[in-house]
Amino acid sequence: MFIFLLKYVSLGVLVFQTTSLVLTMRYSRTLQGEGPRYLASSAVVSAELLKILTCVLLVYKDHSFSIRALNNVLTQEIINKPMDTLKLAIPSGIYTLQNNLLYVALSNLDAATYQVTYQLKILTTALFSVSMLGRRLGVYQWLSLLILMAGVALVQWPSDSSQAHEQLTTGSQFVGLMAVLVACCSSGFAGVYFEKILKETKQSVWVRNIQLGVFGLVFGLMGVFVYDGNRVREYGMFQGYNHLTWTVVALQALGGLVIAAVIKYADNILKGFATSLSIILSTLISYFWLQDFEPTR
Ligand code: C5P
Repeated sequence: MFIFLLKYVSLGVLVFQTTSLVLTMRYSRTLQGEGPRYLASSAVVSAELLKILTCVLLVYKDHSFSIRALNNVLTQEIINKPMDTLKLAIPSGIYTLQNNLLYVALSNLDAATYQVTYQLKILTTALFSVSMLGRRLGVYQWLSLLILMAGVALVQWPSDSSQAHEQLTTGSQFVGLMAVLVACCSSGFAGVYFEKILKETKQSVWVRNIQLGVFGLVFGLMGVFVYDGNRVREYGMFQGYNHLTWTVVALQALGGLVIAAVIKYADNILKGFATSLSIILSTLISYFWLQDFEPTR
């Protein structure tokens, strides 16, 4: 009963988190501020740090707020089991690559085309769940996945393609499409790989998330120095941060925690349904509340 409740609470929080993140990011991007804009690569690192800190606090709470017990768990489960910890480098590295690929995708494709194509991850996730976890899907489940994918794609389909194409700056659609297609495969694979590790071993989801986060932090910092090294040297790591940036960082960190809980208590396929529900929800809010979206006929 408790697990059942956790499953639906985590799915509900994921819908809330995805919706608020999309809207806050959109707002923070349209807001004109003074000075340099915050670096996306730095925001990724901050979110990763916040996620690790929260997970450490959750493990601390799970061990009756004892520093000694926390120390024991972290030493035994993370430091003394290097091979086990190293396994998490795989999904972590793939997620870092994926986050960079999505950046490449968005530099070469308009947002609508990107959203449509990225929904293919629902199908890759189902395929990886079948092949890696031995999950069986009935004809109706496959059909509902296909209908869901088609439905979300239609909602996002650009109405006036010439307008969408005009928004394209330099860059190649082909490169963008390739990037998003590889990201669909990596999203499905990394999600299902993380699910396999979570469900086949006994470690707590928060310990697993610390392991994932530590590699994420290392890969993320490498990203900061490769992409934005010069800008960081000039204006610092936290240039252009404001309260909205911190809200986006907090929502992103919450996303990592909630996705981990959803993968543990539900699964990656239900996660796909929850995030598509949030696409519909954010469309409705942006239309009725923010008057930011004109639906087509
Ligand atoms: O698009 P997709 O659902 O694959 O995105 C998952 C996102 O959640 C990635 O950006 C990944 O970094 C993050 N994540 C996380 N912690 C997990 C699982 C995923 O931060 N345990």
